[in-house]
Amino acid sequence: MKRVIIVGATSGIGRALASLYVAEGWTVGLCGRRTALLDTFGSAVRVEPMDVADTMEARQRFGDLVSDLGGVIDLVIISAGTGFVDNAFPWEKEQETIMTNVAGFAAIAHAAFDLFRRQGFGHLAGISSVAAVRGGPVPVYNASKAFVSSYLQGLRCRAASEGTPITVTDILPGFVDTAMAKGDGLFWVASPEKAARQIYRALEKRKKVVYVTRRWRLVAILLRLLPERVYRILLCSSQEHRERYQE
Ligand SMILES: NC(=O)c1ccc[n+]([C@@H]2O[C@H](COP(=O)([O-])OP(=O)(O)OC[C@H]3O[C@@H](n4cnc5c(N)ncnc54)[C@H](OP(=O)(O)O)[C@@H]3O)[C@@H](O)[C@H]2O)c1
Repeated sequence: MKRVIIVGATSGIGRALASLYVAEGWTVGLCGRRTALLDTFGSAVRVEPMDVADTMEARQRFGDLVSDLGGVIDLVIISAGTGFVDNAFPWEKEQETIMTNVAGFAAIAHAAFDLFRRQGFGHLAGISSVAAVRGGPVPVYNASKAFVSSYLQGLRCRAASEGTPITVTDILPGFVDTAMAKGDGLFWVASPEKAARQIYRALEKRKKVVYVTRRWRLVAILLRLLPERVYRILLCSSQEHRERYQE
């Protein structure tokens, strides 16, 4: 039976993935801070409380869960992430995003990669975002997701240069209907269940880069091509942001 660990599984995309992997008969280990939300899974899963922002402790807990699940893991999915829209633009929110999406992500991605090197195989998937493609009006979020995508690409390079058969998948969702998708002007919003199904299929095919839903690949291409001035008018100078700036 195959074994998966999902970090950030208490809600949203991670939770939908957890349901899918349980239904598909995998042995499943789940992490997050609000572990009471995982009670509904009962004995079908192993649960390890984890705050990825506390990186040393999180790596220790990751190791404990690996041992609990028998010491060999086929797939690790890191869905844990945060993002804030706060007009006051306080440093505390920037710092929390960096600690979770950058430091926390790297701490677990590194621990998983290290495990897979020792095993001689494994598959790591991280949930980045289409926001990774370019800076945006919530600067730290886009920058943190650029880090996630770049770190994953770097791990792929490392696996190739070491000749280790480790698969690394970068997942870039557009909008998904979760607590994280805040604000007006959202479009092409997928349900967490639909996002999870697409991610599951892509991981089965061992894809390297996955847009969810698939049409967001076009948005990413467009975002990369737009000249800075046009990009700013479209994304960074919306009525909403002008009003916020004037508050
Ligand atoms: N929804 C979207 O439109 C969208 C688009 C692009 C990318 N994404 C990315 O998708 C991923 C999942 O987000 P979501 O949309 O499913 O939102 P969500 O429902 O808010 O889920 C976020 C998950 O991350 C976990 N998490 C947050 N901080 C954590 C921490 N310090 N330690 C451990 N776990 C932590 C949360 O668990 P606890 O709070 O219980 O710890 C929760 O399980 C995120 O990385 C997000 O950036 C989402």
